[in-house]
Amino acid sequence: MKGFFLSLEGIEGTGKSTQARLLADYLRSRGYAVIQTAEPGGTPISLKIRELLLSVDSREMDVVTELLLYNAARVQHIKEVITPALTRGDIVISDRFSDSTLAYQGYGRGIDRQVIDALDAVATGCMRPDITLLLDVDVEIGLRRNREMQKHDRLEREDVTFHQRVRRGFHEIAAAEPERICIIPCFDGIEDVHEAIKEAVASFLRERER
Ligand code: TMP
Repeated sequence: MKGFFLSLEGIEGTGKSTQARLLADYLRSRGYAVIQTAEPGGTPISLKIRELLLSVDSREMDVVTELLLYNAARVQHIKEVITPALTRGDIVISDRFSDSTLAYQGYGRGIDRQVIDALDAVATGCMRPDITLLLDVDVEIGLRRNREMQKHDRLEREDVTFHQRVRRGFHEIAAAEPERICIIPCFDGIEDVHEAIKEAVASFLRERER
């Protein structure tokens, strides 16, 4: 089977990492070769950039520096991990990709859309996942889940209105690209969300076979 590129997106506390792992395990159990990865990260250089981005010591970081660093991490990630895996015919599951930049740095920080798109064209060549699952939950619920998991990085410390703008951003991005982006409500338990994700992937594969 030809591989494909799937991204999981969403605000804080939707359970993306857990769902990425469950989906990767499920697809592997069906015999597929799967690379599970995450942004910012996936390579040694990108992980160093991640540390810089998420450290609470980086409180002086300008929003443009932040935007450039997310893109820089993505360049390495595509070059070292995503493109080689897709070339081999593997399935790539990435916890976040460029929709996060538009949602967080665009809608959240208020950076102009044209600037975001121009940098995205440089960093990714306008590469897009074949399918994106937008995991959706209320901001208050997501932030509470993260507090319970003791996650306190620099972006999670932003106030509720920042995260509300990010969530609205994700919804607008999804509305603009309904063929690629499927919204998965995450108010139920982990198993229910996993079932909904499996159904979305099965439907994507059926569509692709046509
Ligand atoms: P996470 O791995 O816990 O999702 O943390 C990554 C954080 O970085 C999260 O707060 C979302 C943020 N982020 C951006 O602001 N822009 C981006 O382009 C990406 C990939 C992540």
